[in-house]
Amino acid sequence: MNDALLELSKVSKIYGDLHALDEVDLTVGRGEWVSIVGPSGSGKTTMMNIIGCMDHPTSGTVVLDNRDISEFSSFDLTQVRRETIGLIFQQFHLIPHLTAIENVMVSQYYHSMPDEQEARNALERVGLGDRATHLPRQLSGGEQQRVCVARALINSPKIVLADEPTGNLDANNEHIVLDIFGELHDEGTTLIVVTHDATVAAKAQREIRLDHGKVVEEIIHNDAPQVSSVLKEEK
Ligand SMILES: Nc1ncnc2c1ncn2[C@@H]1O[C@H](COP(=O)(O)OP(=O)(O)OP(=O)(O)O)[C@@H](O)[C@H]1O
Ligand SMILES: [Mg+2]
Repeated sequence: MNDALLELSKVSKIYGDLHALDEVDLTVGRGEWVSIVGPSGSGKTTMMNIIGCMDHPTSGTVVLDNRDISEFSSFDLTQVRRETIGLIFQQFHLIPHLTAIENVMVSQYYHSMPDEQEARNALERVGLGDRATHLPRQLSGGEQQRVCVARALINSPKIVLADEPTGNLDANNEHIVLDIFGELHDEGTTLIVVTHDATVAAKAQREIRLDHGKVVEEIIHNDAPQVSSVLKEEK
């Protein structure tokens, strides 16, 4: 089995004459924690949408967990997403008429089977055990974001993709989310985190900078937690 969980080769996304992504090459190893930084409009979300099986590249190949998904149908992409990926967005995308625990259980439903106790445990893990029956509008922004984290990790995805996961959070909530990312990393989960926050970016082992749709810089953070080879093999 290939040690890379994700391999982008010459991936472009072109809108008219705009190259939102311009021949991007990127390899992410199993269990690696990578941050993606870059100015507004540099292509970060575009790249996450392609990795997250929500969009196709215009050209280039995307290999995720040993499968070339570049030309998968939308139906097949949805399957891969449900099986493999946990998504955290800046705009929370919680279902407004469902409670916190029901929002987590929807994700279980699409993956396999809803399990209320497991969903409750996930909410407890993000410090929201006492908010399980609140609707999104009855939760603060930080709490809603933590429900999203619980929803993303409930099915033990191989890879967690987060687009500005701490953008709307105060320092305390940011700390909670980063601690959970650290735990996921320790458990062998691969993390790709888009952020404008230098502190959040530096938590990753590797920081990739995009500009005008191209990878322009790569920084290794030696002080960040390293991949555990034992755990890595289990994923
Ligand atoms: N559906 C679309 N149609 C046309 N242009 C698009 C579309 N989606 C994105 N773009 C353009 O592609 C470029 C990259 O957008 P993207 O959302 O990836 O940027 P970003 O790096 O995530 O920025 P931000 O930090 O502001 O979130 C932008 O110039 C944007 O306007
Ligand atoms: Mg974006």
